[in-house]
Amino acid sequence: MARRASISMKDVAALARVSLGTVSNVVNSPELVSEATRERVEVAITKLGWVPNESARQLRAGRSRSVGMVVMDIANPFFTDVLLGVEDYVLARGYSVQVGNSASQPARESDQLRLFEQQRVRGVLCAPIWGVNDRVDDLRRRGIPVVLVDRAGDESGFCSVSVDDVEGGRLAVSHLLGLGHRRIALVGGPGKLQQVRDRRLGADVARAQHGGEADLLVVSTSGLDASFGVGAADQIVAMSDQERPTAVFAANDLLAIGLLQGFVTHGLRVPEDVAIIGYDDISFAASAAVPLSSIRQPRVDLGRRAAELLFDEIEAEDDDLPHEHQNVRFTPDLVVRRSTVSSGNGRRLA
Ligand code: RIB
Repeated sequence: MARRASISMKDVAALARVSLGTVSNVVNSPELVSEATRERVEVAITKLGWVPNESARQLRAGRSRSVGMVVMDIANPFFTDVLLGVEDYVLARGYSVQVGNSASQPARESDQLRLFEQQRVRGVLCAPIWGVNDRVDDLRRRGIPVVLVDRAGDESGFCSVSVDDVEGGRLAVSHLLGLGHRRIALVGGPGKLQQVRDRRLGADVARAQHGGEADLLVVSTSGLDASFGVGAADQIVAMSDQERPTAVFAANDLLAIGLLQGFVTHGLRVPEDVAIIGYDDISFAASAAVPLSSIRQPRVDLGRRAAELLFDEIEAEDDDLPHEHQNVRFTPDLVVRRSTVSSGNGRRLA
């Protein structure tokens, strides 16, 4: 049987007895078409099995119906949860999300942002590695709205959503100090990452609030996945009994999971020999072999709010209206489980 030629917009218009422009409006601006006509066209589309050609529409309109999002580490469930919130909001507006992973490499981050620009995305959500780089500035100069994610954007000239990581660090170490720990390791890095720096600042605040007599030992890592946590556990276990901390605050849950694996491999009991608290409260924290205490970041809300700010800016641009940048800051909370308190049941404490 001869292969049927691909169905075109013209076939739909003929079957529905409308113009090509009406078919285009039904797909792109349905609010411009009467309900009866819209239904007639939709029946024709379904009967013929026609699929609009997005790339042709993009060429005509000069902009795609997609937004781009670049994250630091797509393998970290923190970012996939943030992405879920972004997708919820974006898909409801008939847009798609193109995802890029910088893998904590600035060159990859720049390449990904350049690709978004070439693909004519309507806007970009960027969880930057170090901060606002030239490539992000270029996007703004070329009229592509950018929202910073997981980064405070005050005075940066961008909208941003972030979590108060200083408060998060303070909550984590206050919890350990409140349990009587006085030698605490702060595991994570690189130290110039804003997230790590702020969490360590919060640890210092907690120590000062508890009389300043605790020892905070920085165990720096060059990355933030579980393998670096295992390496940090090896380092801590090799310490003398006088040096070894009785508790560890990990800069995120992946490190905490690696630390837990490392300590158990070395025969240490958690929390009896060493307590562990992580950060993010990803789903694996609760399901770890010893359920992890953690500092919960509102990940899906972060993503949803970031997408909302981006579309506020896109729609203001479309309607030629002024747009005032907003820097939204969420507050994290403490979740106590058995990796710090042997009877911990996962209660969230503000
Ligand atoms: O990307 C590293 C970490 O920073 C994540 O685990 C999350 O805590 C983010 O804030």
